[in-house]
Amino acid sequence: MNSWKALSKAKEILTAGGIIGLPTETVYGLAGSIDSEEAIQRIFAIKDRPFFDPLIVHIASIKQIEAITLEWTSTQNSLAERFWPGPLTIIARKSPNLNPMITAGLDTVAIRMPSHPLARRLLRSLKHPLAAPSANKFGRTSPTRYEHVLSEFSGSDLFVLEGGEAAVGIESTVIRVTEDAHRIDLEILRPGMITKSDFILALKDFAKKPFDVSLRASTSSPGHTQTHYQPSIPLVIATRNLSTQNVAYIEKDLNVPERSRYSELNLNPDPRLAARDLYHQMRKISESGAAWFFVRRTSDRQGELWDSLWNRIEKAASMVIS
Ligand code: TXA
Ligand code: MG
Repeated sequence: MNSWKALSKAKEILTAGGIIGLPTETVYGLAGSIDSEEAIQRIFAIKDRPFFDPLIVHIASIKQIEAITLEWTSTQNSLAERFWPGPLTIIARKSPNLNPMITAGLDTVAIRMPSHPLARRLLRSLKHPLAAPSANKFGRTSPTRYEHVLSEFSGSDLFVLEGGEAAVGIESTVIRVTEDAHRIDLEILRPGMITKSDFILALKDFAKKPFDVSLRASTSSPGHTQTHYQPSIPLVIATRNLSTQNVAYIEKDLNVPERSRYSELNLNPDPRLAARDLYHQMRKISESGAAWFFVRRTSDRQGELWDSLWNRIEKAASMVIS
């Protein structure tokens, strides 16, 4: 199907209250119109997602903010202008008109303007924004390719827009900004490829009062249970090469047969390329017949971008060997 045909099919499904697989630059989403209660319910149902975990609203333009929020500050707007379209999600006070299922009953809404060209074309053609979580079963690894979404929901008739490999590869940075007359507080609720120093640089440019940028424990973001991003076979983080004793210990602890086949997840030394490939590698190894796999957390894999990657890898891992 060519992309024009695929886009018009996606539009048709969404306008009728259905849901689709949506490519974005971070990971693929499972999208439905914020205007359709039926679509929102279907998203939670096919993901097996608990209702306490809120969805992100994806918009085409800043103009759509007004209808979904109660308040949008000039700081939020400046951050949006700086980083959108792109891998940033901004939490704002929610409009009472927005379906509370989308926000899991919270008084705030998470908003993002994706940069993926197909997502942008689709969003621009629709009357309403799209609510979308990542297109994986609850607690599982996010999909970064068309084929991942198909296999995640095989057996369903989900239509997926084919948008190639996600260029960023891990989920967006989620931030909350609070401010009073004297200062601005920016909290990173979920780290991502837009980092603390990016925010500091941006705020230095336009903030007219003192500010603080901090990284919050990710459990402060709803839905962030420890069992997230789980591959289908156990993952071990090792800070050094595995010895025979280490392997025996791991086998016992993971309850896998002795001398089972295992694999190493090799990460690109460039954290941006490592992020792009992370979930694909995790899926590939999980399907390779190995009983478990490990990733080496070496001292050269440090810094802000790596921290965001380790955040996902730690949540996906079953144990750490140091
Ligand atoms: O990159 C992404 O953000 C991808 C693509 C599809 O846009 N989406 C994504 O959605 O990762 P999801 O549902 O897997 O993760 C969204 C997370 C939720 O788990 C929750 O922690 C946080 O965003 N979130 C949503 N609404 C929130 C709110 N009102 N306050 C705080 N955190 C919120
Ligand atoms: Mg997710």
